Amino acid sequence: MPTVLITGANKGIGLAFAKSFAVDGWKVHACCRQPDKAVDLKSIEGNVALHKLEVTDGLRLAGLAREIIDEPIDILINNAGYFGPRMPFGETDYDDWAYTFLVNSMGPLRMAEHFVEHVARSERRLIVNISSKMGSLSANESGGGYVYRSSKAALNMVSKSLAIDLQEKGISVIAVHPGHVQTDMGGEDAPVSISKSVSGLRKVITKVTEADTGKFFNYDGSIIPW
Ligand SMILES: NC(=O)c1ccc[n+]([C@@H]2O[C@H](COP(=O)([O-])OP(=O)(O)OC[C@H]3O[C@@H](n4cnc5c(N)ncnc54)[C@H](OP(=O)(O)O)[C@@H]3O)[C@@H](O)[C@H]2O)c1
Repeated sequence: MPTVLITGANKGIGLAFAKSFAVDGWKVHACCRQPDKAVDLKSIEGNVALHKLEVTDGLRLAGLAREIIDEPIDILINNAGYFGPRMPFGETDYDDWAYTFLVNSMGPLRMAEHFVEHVARSERRLIVNISSKMGSLSANESGGGYVYRSSKAALNMVSKSLAIDLQEKGISVIAVHPGHVQTDMGGEDAPVSISKSVSGLRKVITKVTEADTGKFFNYDGSIIPW
């Protein structure tokens, strides 16, 4: 049975990923900060193991990695993300910016460092970092968004370096943009439904080969320039 580990699986895109993989018969390690309150996640039928995980907590990551040491992880999905403060130029909250980096940029690398051997021992050997087109330098035509944009741009660089460094272990690493999606983060007026985003991303993930490592994919399968 293939296995996927998903961070931020209690709602939004992460929850939809958990449902989608569980329906297809995967073993799902679903991580969230407050499992007690994760009602939707708990209602998913299938082989779903819930884990309490705050991605900025290195000790907890190490603990979870030890708890499931014997389990290969075919796909690690670094989905947990935080938009950060929505403040215009001149009103930057530097503490919240630093926290946003801890979650969006450092969280996925911490996860990769702790779970690299679980992924290396699997059949699929894939790490998927949920990034954002807002982290693309070349796609930035509207400015602003310093905090979120820079945290995802940093994640893109982390993804690229990881792709190169983990090639010798046969692990592929991709960054993906889920679209502007109807979640708490994306807002209810966003143009892309959660199901359209996640079914598109599932197709992208299924098609990825070692030749694609280090690429940045849109949810429709097209490549996004860095
Ligand atoms: N929605 C969009 O339009 C859009 C566009 C581009 C990229 N993305 C990316 O897609 C991913 C999923 O976002 P979403 O739209 O599904 O947003 P969402 O509904 O706000 O969900 C975010 C998830 O991340 C979790 N999370 C936040 N900080 C965390 C932390 N420190 N440790 C562990 N979990 C944490 C949240 O947990 P809590 O419930 O405990 O807060 C929640 O499960 C994010 O990486 C986001 O940046 C979204």
